[in-house]
Amino acid sequence: MTRNDQFLKACRKEKTDFTPIWLMRQAGRYMEEYRKIRSKIDFLTMCKTPDLAAEVTLQPINRIGVDAAIIFADILLPLEPMGIKLEFAKNEGPVINNPIRTNEDVNALRHINTDEDLSFLPEAIRIVKQELNGKVPLIGFSGAPFTLASYIIEGGSSRNYIHAKKMMYKEPERWNRLMDKISSVIINYLLAQVKSGAEAVQLFDSWVGCLSAEDYRQYVLPHSKKVIKNIKKEENVPVIHFGTNTTTLLQSMTEAGGDVIGMDWRINLDEGWGKIGFDRAVQGNLDPVVLLSNPVEIEKRVKDILKRAGGRPGHIFNLGHGILPETPVDNVIALVDMVHDLTGK
Ligand code: CP3
Repeated sequence: MTRNDQFLKACRKEKTDFTPIWLMRQAGRYMEEYRKIRSKIDFLTMCKTPDLAAEVTLQPINRIGVDAAIIFADILLPLEPMGIKLEFAKNEGPVINNPIRTNEDVNALRHINTDEDLSFLPEAIRIVKQELNGKVPLIGFSGAPFTLASYIIEGGSSRNYIHAKKMMYKEPERWNRLMDKISSVIINYLLAQVKSGAEAVQLFDSWVGCLSAEDYRQYVLPHSKKVIKNIKKEENVPVIHFGTNTTTLLQSMTEAGGDVIGMDWRINLDEGWGKIGFDRAVQGNLDPVVLLSNPVEIEKRVKDILKRAGGRPGHIFNLGHGILPETPVDNVIALVDMVHDLTGK
């Protein structure tokens, strides 16, 4: 089978035969195949069982027809070997029972060796690569320093990021030491994924949009920049840098050095691309809630995004954030077919 390299070409801003599409959280609860496995086993155990993680990674490739796979894992997995007690409480999302707030807390955090501490992940990647047999490329991923720091300090999801911002503003030295530690972990985590077969990586800075542009530049940009620089120094893989609520941060995020900048639906794709600069590739940006409507409405929105992309090389179609669990799978299939049909596949 000929290899579908359209996603990698778009990352490099090369001309493609059609617009490649993949979807954040494409493996997940909206798929019956996923729910069937998940009904018997908890989420963390799924991540830690390479055969299951590989199986779930491949489900959307076979069912939905996306142009890239993303390894089934989580941005919070590296926290456990760092010494953080992580749980996924039922209907509550992630809970960390020992949030990191004091100097002693920060000092006690351990560096990790992904190949030893999280060996299930490189193993799952090797299985997926074998099964894919070149059908589509595989994406590895990590949380970005700010988003991981927000979970570590807050102890879970947050509305106002009070503890994280308080450390940033009141104890900047402590904040920077924590961000340095997290950044080294991320570099190790991403490089291990690339060395075991991931052909691109995405940094999820999902919650960075809670910051002003000035605070982003002062407290976050140097760390994200360092992560990307260290990946690019070691491995020639595209880095996708994504966040939500980043309308005012896109220019600064671009400075961090990612090859592809992800944007959410709060900004029009052409306007966002203009801020980022047309010399860079972009990913986005359909509102995931649109997938709860119907194919006619979805097509209207898809056409608008494609019009704004203007046929320029370097557009990867995606949602502005992850697929919601209540999304009808037929609408997701319709979306992928539409993007392909409308762009010449
Ligand atoms: O995209 C993919 O298909 C790959 C898998 C993937 C998961 N999480 C699986 C998952 C990816 C890329 C992530 C990233 C992730 N994890 C992010 C960044 C992306 C984003 O959504 O902003 C964040 C913030 C997390 C942390 C996390 N993991 C939360 C907040 C939750 C609970 C919220 C929820 O949706 O229930 C998770 C759990 C999680 N990660 C699930 C999946 C499929 C649901 C687990 C289940 O089956 O119950």
